[in-house]
Amino acid sequence: MTRHSFGGDWTRVKLDTLEKYLDIYTTAMKNQKFNFHYVDAFAGTGQRDGEDDPTHSLIKEIETLKGSATRALECKKPFDHYHFNDTNPHHVKALRELAAQHPDKKVNVTQEDANVFVQHFCHDMRPMDRAIVFLDPYSSELEWSTLKAIRNTEKVDLWLLFPISTLLRITPRNGPRDEWGSAIERMLGTSDWRELYEEQPLTMDLFGEHREEVRRQDYKKVVDFVTTHLRRLFPFVDDPFHLDQRGRLLFLLYFCVSNPSPAALALARKLSAAIRKSQK
Ligand SMILES: C[S@@+](CC[C@H](N)C(=O)[O-])C[C@H]1O[C@@H](n2cnc3c(N)ncnc32)[C@H](O)[C@@H]1O
Repeated sequence: MTRHSFGGDWTRVKLDTLEKYLDIYTTAMKNQKFNFHYVDAFAGTGQRDGEDDPTHSLIKEIETLKGSATRALECKKPFDHYHFNDTNPHHVKALRELAAQHPDKKVNVTQEDANVFVQHFCHDMRPMDRAIVFLDPYSSELEWSTLKAIRNTEKVDLWLLFPISTLLRITPRNGPRDEWGSAIERMLGTSDWRELYEEQPLTMDLFGEHREEVRRQDYKKVVDFVTTHLRRLFPFVDDPFHLDQRGRLLFLLYFCVSNPSPAALALARKLSAAIRKSQK
């Protein structure tokens, strides 16, 4: 059996939020005649395995949780099609076993890079298709071009786990590193991230020479930058959920809607309000 232990306490928040959304969405859409797809591009194994860390007895054990693929299969009103994808062959095997436990559901399991997989899926969508896409990478595997492909469908609602701690790490406070520029641009699809750096007033060094310094703005400005950037792409992007571990911000969980129609946007606002209310 493949064990897959990842994340932290915040993983429960992420998965419970997704599950709540899937239940509310499928219930709201139950009388619609579309073909509904659930697409999990970083699907894992269907389970988050618990882990006891004997070397750090003060650190809380990671609890076993149902993973995103299992939660989608078990949601109140089923989807017409499920697409589970992962690059790890052991995870793919576990996903096939999970699919076999649900013979009544149409499940397609693939082993591709998530960017290639999602872009193909979006390209092949037909007029009556609608999809929920969940993008749950470990870190910076996701490319902005994939988000653009999702936006262009106008048929996908997206749940996106954005690795803000990775972005903060590769945009250090004391000045940009050019060698990381292309990785940042792959993540964000723009060179505008350099605007996060501000020139500091001239200072005099020990030898009486002027030094000009740039500094990255604080993490809240980086969060705002990512949110604003997503809002330029998608017609609806809700305020992100902040997922942190012991006070350290790790990920942002975004709900983005690609359909610009007033009806879709009204539904998105309703669903997002219902999720936030259920979490109080
Ligand atoms: C955080 S885990 C996903 C957890 C899963 N959503 C769940 O709730 O159980 C990230 C997964 O992405 C897979 N992965 C890493 N890089 C990938 C890539 N480029 N394309 C597709 N899958 C990838 C890993 O093998 C891992 O299973």
